Parts: sequence; C-alpha cells; structure tokens
Amino acid sequence: MTSPEHDLVLVVDFGAQYAQLIARRVREARVYSEIVPHHVPVAEMLARNPKAIILSGGPSSVYAEGAPAIDRSIFTADVPVFGMCYGFQLMAEGLGGEVAATGAREYGRTPVTVSAGGALLADVPEQHTVWMSHGDSVVAAPSGFDVLASTAGTPVAAFESVDRRMAGVQWHPEVLHSEHGQLVLEHFLHDIAGCRQTWTMLNIVEEQVETIRAQVGEGRAICALSGGVDSAVAAAIVQRAIGDRLTCVYVDHGMMRQGETEQVRHDFEEVFDVLDVVDAADQFLDALAGVRDPEEKRKIIGREFIRTFENAEARVFGDAQSGTTAYLVQGTLYPDVVESGGGAGASTIKSHHNVGGLPDDLNFELVEPLRALFKDEVRAVGEQLGLPSTMVWRQPFPGPGLGIRIIGEVTHDRLDILRQADAIAREELTRAGLDRDIWQMPVVLLADVRSVGVQGDGRTYGHPVVLRPVTSEDAMTADWARLPYDLMERISTRITNEVAEVNRVTVDITSKPPGTIEWE
Ligand code: XMP
Repeated sequence: MTSPEHDLVLVVDFGAQYAQLIARRVREARVYSEIVPHHVPVAEMLARNPKAIILSGGPSSVYAEGAPAIDRSIFTADVPVFGMCYGFQLMAEGLGGEVAATGAREYGRTPVTVSAGGALLADVPEQHTVWMSHGDSVVAAPSGFDVLASTAGTPVAAFESVDRRMAGVQWHPEVLHSEHGQLVLEHFLHDIAGCRQTWTMLNIVEEQVETIRAQVGEGRAICALSGGVDSAVAAAIVQRAIGDRLTCVYVDHGMMRQGETEQVRHDFEEVFDVLDVVDAADQFLDALAGVRDPEEKRKIIGREFIRTFENAEARVFGDAQSGTTAYLVQGTLYPDVVESGGGAGASTIKSHHNVGGLPDDLNFELVEPLRALFKDEVRAVGEQLGLPSTMVWRQPFPGPGLGIRIIGEVTHDRLDILRQADAIAREELTRAGLDRDIWQMPVVLLADVRSVGVQGDGRTYGHPVVLRPVTSEDAMTADWARLPYDLMERISTRITNEVAEVNRVTVDITSKPPGTIEWE
C-alpha cells in the first residue's frame, strides 16, 4: 500500500495494544499508517521511507525490567517522531532528557495544564483532561525542546522541537477519554511532520480495483460470502475489478438465523447479478448428529464447509486450462494480518488440498482487498460502494452460526426453537433503535436444561434461553450491555408467549474477560 500517492506513518508497537488504535486514528486524520513491532531494526523501518514514526504506549516505565527499547538512531534519521506515553519517555531518554521515578503515578483521567501551545497543542484549551497510565515521569525535556504542558505529578507532560520535527505527550491522545486527542495527533501529522491528507475511502476503492485488475488479469475468481460485511465488501471490490468473472458462493449450513439466507440473497442480488446459494443444511446436520463438544462442532462445521466450497470450486474452475491460476477472494482485515505477524503486502496461498474435478496443475492465489483496512474503514468502503445498509452494518455473527449457540446437540427442532427466540430478540432490539449501540446479542438455548414453569393453565417443563447483549469495540474485550428494562421485559414476554418450548428468559451480565461473548 506504500505508494507515491500516500505518505506512510509507522506506528511502533511496544506491545500494550495501543498501536492498532493509534494507527486507526492516524488514518482518521487521512494519512496512511501501518504497525511495526518494536523489535524490527530501525534501518528496516527507515527503508520503508516513512514520513513520520510514532512510538506508542507500552509498559509503565522505561526502567522496568525487560522494558523494550528502541535504537537511538531513530532520533538522528531526520524523520519526524511522535512519542505517546511510554514512547514519550523513550524519546525523553533517547534525546538526552531525564526520566525519574518521582513516585507520582497517574492513571485514568488527569487534568493537564498547557503552558505554551506551540505547534502541537495549538488551539487546545489551557486546562483540559487527558487519559494517563504511567509510573515514571519526564522531569527534564531534552535540550532544544520546548516544554508545553504539565500535570500535578508530571513537570514535563508534553514537549516539541519544531526544528527537529519531533514531539511527544505523556498521555494517550488516541483514546476517547483524552480531550482534544485527535487534534493533537493531527497537529503532529499535518503541521509538524507535513504528512499529506490523501487517505480517503474513495481512493482505497480505486486503488484496489486497479491492483486486482493487475493481479487477476483475465482470470476467474471465487468468493465465499458469509453474509457478513467483510466478505461482502471484498467481493464488491473484486466485482468492480473483474465483473462476472467473479463467482460468489453462499453456503447455507442450516444454522443461520430466521430469514437470514433470504436476506443475504436479496441484498446480494441487488449488488451482484447472481449468487450461488448452496443448500447444505442436511449435510451439516447429519455430520453434527450426536456431537455436543463445542470444539468438535467447530471442526465438523469447518470440514463440511471446505468440502462444500471445494465442490463450488470444481464447478467454477473445472474447465480451466492446465496451468492457470484460480483466485480465491478473502475478506482478511488488517488486525488479522497484524496479529498473525504479517505485513500489509499481498500474500500467496501456500497449499491447497487436492480437489476432485479440478485440473491437477491449477494454482491457487489469494485476493485480499481488505488486507490493509480496519473494520470501520471496511464499513466506510461498503457505504462508498453503495452496498445496502443491512449488509454494511450487520452485527458480527459467528461462522458456525447457531450451532455454537445451542448448548448440547444441534438438531433441526432445537434450531427451530432458537431461531424463533432469536428472531424476537433481534426484532425488539431493532424496534428499540439500539442496533448500532449493541455490538451483538447472541441468544443461547440451554437445550439440555429444563426448568419448571406455569404457562396458561398448566405446569411446563421447558428450556431456558440466555440473552447475551454486549458492547464492544473489537470483540477482544466486551461489557454486558445495560438494556432498558422495558425492552428486556418485552423480549422475555414475547419469547415465553410465542415460543412454546421456552419458559424462561435470562440475561447474562458477565463482562469479557472473564466470560467470552459466545457461550461455546
Ligand atoms: P468470543 O466468544 O471469543 O467471540 O468472545 C469473539 C467474537 O468472535 C465471534 N466468534 C466466532 N466467529 N467462528 C467465527 O467466525 C467462531 O467459531 C466464533 N466463535 C466466536 C463472536 O461472535 C464474537 O464476535
């Protein structure tokens, strides 16, 4: 993605989960950014010709045992550098300032006083609140640097040298709790480092379309659609590039929610001419008969999916000429790439199973148009491409579907019960206007549990369901969502009235960690 059209900002990751958020904020400032682990040699970082480098937060002290360091050559390379939190302390230390254990730890919201705005804190109010997380403090700025701000416990909370194009803050400007954080970051990027603001959703699409045309040429591609936003946007971009030489396949494994397959078909046929829907419900449910262990269920569903998809590949590429390449479109996102330690460049597929009905020497190659993007950028691209909002704003739904929301064996009857309860919960959530506030709300059927109830004139012995509404930014952590009582009441009343086998509705109020979002 490094191209003459975009400046590149490298965010050096010191391992405390801040780097992804910083990289996203840099892109919100319309500058392209990528993450590099801190152990990458500085020479390698510089070889990528970054327009600026950001040192992220990390452990609380540069003196902590095993605290990661950065080679000081980064400060003499004539590349603009911005340090945040731990990165700020590394800068202070590396440039000849002083970091001391003052004993003044600051965590959470902290008032900061701006003494001189300079370029970095221009237009930022003299008194404001920022998010801190540090033990040691910078007590003396490096020579030639202006001190811009302080807090009760930190004499040097921000500094800059406009001449050297370097600046830093002790706080975390990337988190929402820091007031004016985005403005501070933009001052660094635009005013101090001189980065150009070229990164927009429109040019992401145009560039990807060009790249895919070059990669695929006259070849054919296949894409498995899950119904989720990632595969849909990936497919839409590829379709723009190669038109009907892309085949989209949707495998209905029988564990989708009520009306979902019809919705997916409807949405896709608006955008893509044809969608190859494979009805494989019986195949999946036969394979799952008697299976209760969640990992075993996942394995079986994965295996059956591959089998089904291979059949689709054989339909698409079966008549391909010997030696040609089959392109597989995948909606891999940048966080997956970072987490698996890869770079943002294109990857090739290493091996592929032998699929009957295909030429022996067919090569497989991946097409991953979203490899450089974050989820919110994918949604923005989806909107840019004019995809239906049901597709762009769909809440995450696991690949194995309702199969991992039935605690116990998965059967047609149990799926029907869960589908009815889930449809009611979703309908009421939508009616309450909360779809975009809630990350997702699994409904879980405790299929092997029965409890006593009274419904109508009689005693019942039905199943409980669990509502699991959560808020989250990335599914890595989550909080239980405080749904309004009247909404919960409506969901509960309707489910127990309308779904005969369910006589009890409970709400899961566990955050993640310790509880995962899904129950299996
Ligand atoms: P957990 O349950 O680990 O879920 O907190 C985090 C996110 O991942 C989704 N999830 C899955 N997605 N296959 C998927 O495609 C799976 O097996 C799977 N298990 C969990 C979950 O819905 C949530 O968004």
